Amino acid sequence: MIDTATPSDARIFAPAAARNRDAIREVVVAEAPVTGRALEIASGSGEHVVHIARATPALTWQPTDPDPARRASIDAWRLETGADGVAPARALDAAGRGWSAEFAGQDLVLMVNLLHLITEEDARTVLREIAAALAPGGVALIYGPFLRDGCTTSPGDARFDAALRTENPGAGYKDIVWVSRVLTDAGLAMPRTIDMPANNLMIVARKPQEIPDGP
Ligand SMILES: C[S@@+](CC[C@H](N)C(=O)[O-])C[C@H]1O[C@@H](n2cnc3c(N)ncnc32)[C@H](O)[C@@H]1O
Repeated sequence: MIDTATPSDARIFAPAAARNRDAIREVVVAEAPVTGRALEIASGSGEHVVHIARATPALTWQPTDPDPARRASIDAWRLETGADGVAPARALDAAGRGWSAEFAGQDLVLMVNLLHLITEEDARTVLREIAAALAPGGVALIYGPFLRDGCTTSPGDARFDAALRTENPGAGYKDIVWVSRVLTDAGLAMPRTIDMPANNLMIVARKPQEIPDGP
């Protein structure tokens, strides 16, 4: 993240978000339900949610972040862009247990670039809570860098992963097989991945529709 535009402007400009926002928006538009409730976890600067909301006019977006400065940025971007359909940012530590009860009934949960920053134990909690927050038929979209068969896929990724592990033991890239298994164990059906720019992946995982009881 880089500095805000002016001292009185809470907007944060995140160069990475400006680079990947179109690719992420394209996947959201293709995979999301047309209408309903969308929750964004770890919204960061807020640049993603205002950009994506413009292309999903019948979704109601709830951005969240645990960091007050980032929530201020999200709200500043909302006001600046007049983003209809984006609610004021709410505080959410997605690694805390039980938040899915408060945010239940989501048709879409989007999370960009969080899993590699947190420990495996916290990542498991985040993924389980996402699954629990989804309504039947809802979809989780989880973007970031991942290990494939236990390996990074470029020298740059190897360096970044190693730096994360040094800085915060237990953090670092999660293996795509591990993430898929946690999501499946939490009740989501057949997670699949979409290749994204810069060696990143988008995981797409759906909660099955409830099947009505027979006669
Ligand atoms: C690398 S930034 C990604 C921000 C945004 N999604 C993006 O891609 O531009 C990571 C974000 O995760 C948030 N974060 C850190 N720990 C979190 C947690 N336990 N639950 C939810 N968000 C968290 C940070 O405040 C920060 O905004």
